[in-house]
Amino acid sequence: TESMNKQVQEIAAHCDQLPERFIRKDDEEYANITNTGDSCPMEIPVIDISLLTSSHLELDRLKTAITTWGCFQAINHGMDGSFLDKVREVSRLFFDLSAEEKKKYLREEDDLEGYGNDMVLSDHQTLDWTDRLYLTVLPQDQQRLQFWPKIPTSFREVVNEYSSKIEVINEVILKALARSLNLEENCFLDQYGTTAKMIARFNYYPPCAWPDKVLGVKPHADGSAVTFLLQDKEVEGLQVLKDGQWFGVPIVPDALTINVGDQIEIMSNGIFKSPVHRVLVNTKNQRITLAVFCMPQTEKDIGPLDGLITDSTPRLYKNVTFSVDFYFENYQQGKRPIDACKI
Ligand code: SIN
Ligand code: FE2
Repeated sequence: TESMNKQVQEIAAHCDQLPERFIRKDDEEYANITNTGDSCPMEIPVIDISLLTSSHLELDRLKTAITTWGCFQAINHGMDGSFLDKVREVSRLFFDLSAEEKKKYLREEDDLEGYGNDMVLSDHQTLDWTDRLYLTVLPQDQQRLQFWPKIPTSFREVVNEYSSKIEVINEVILKALARSLNLEENCFLDQYGTTAKMIARFNYYPPCAWPDKVLGVKPHADGSAVTFLLQDKEVEGLQVLKDGQWFGVPIVPDALTINVGDQIEIMSNGIFKSPVHRVLVNTKNQRITLAVFCMPQTEKDIGPLDGLITDSTPRLYKNVTFSVDFYFENYQQGKRPIDACKI
């Protein structure tokens, strides 16, 4: 159909009927959870990153956050508001370019890297109401610069600076997670490997005239070790599933929303939770976010840490190479990739 070759941004601007392929189906996993936690006073914990090395209380709060929610809002992470605004600005300027200009960065059909919308693998697949720019940012020698926007001209510099700052915070968090379990502080990092792989995904959610019929992103858990989300400054949309309810993730000024992914759930033998989350869209406002996925070194074998396997807490997961391909093969078939790792 006509809509197949178009980005969601163009469909939102020009179509007066919602293309069939975006319509949510009732039989999809999690589709029937209609209640939300909006009226519930429970909120996603706020963690002060600068306290994690000195305060046992904050370390305990981190542990509670990741064992119950799987995510938290990070403050005092070392990046000030004006720098985060710069990151948001280069993201917005890219999506503001004309459709023609953006198409210079289009991804190939069977490649994740570049600009585009959902990869279509089957006729039954429901498409997400979002366009993305997907870039490998680290290691630097794996950057495929043909997909990196030349406009705005500061794009590359700002994104590189942001990535190296995230790399530092990622290390602080992986060490803190280990210490919170009374393990040697490098044990997650040792599995993680020395050449971190980091992927940046810039997400653009156009306003949608049919917000109840579509999802910005279908329910999923991340295949990363840790994910860092820079939310839109004004427009909310992310929800996290906890105890059978969806909870909105509020915007906390200058915070990063951080969640662990399947790889940390596996390494922690299920103690830490890789949370299921989804994105809603709205009729009025576009929403732009930047997700950075920190992954263990490519092809590294990961598995539950020795210190966490005991008589009373037997091993729950096999050792696996949790590659991006493995993740998408399962995800696109509607399966949770981590389920394929269970013993
Ligand atoms: C995602 O989890 O895939 C995107 C999150 C967001 O844009 O809020
Ligand atoms: Fe996600």
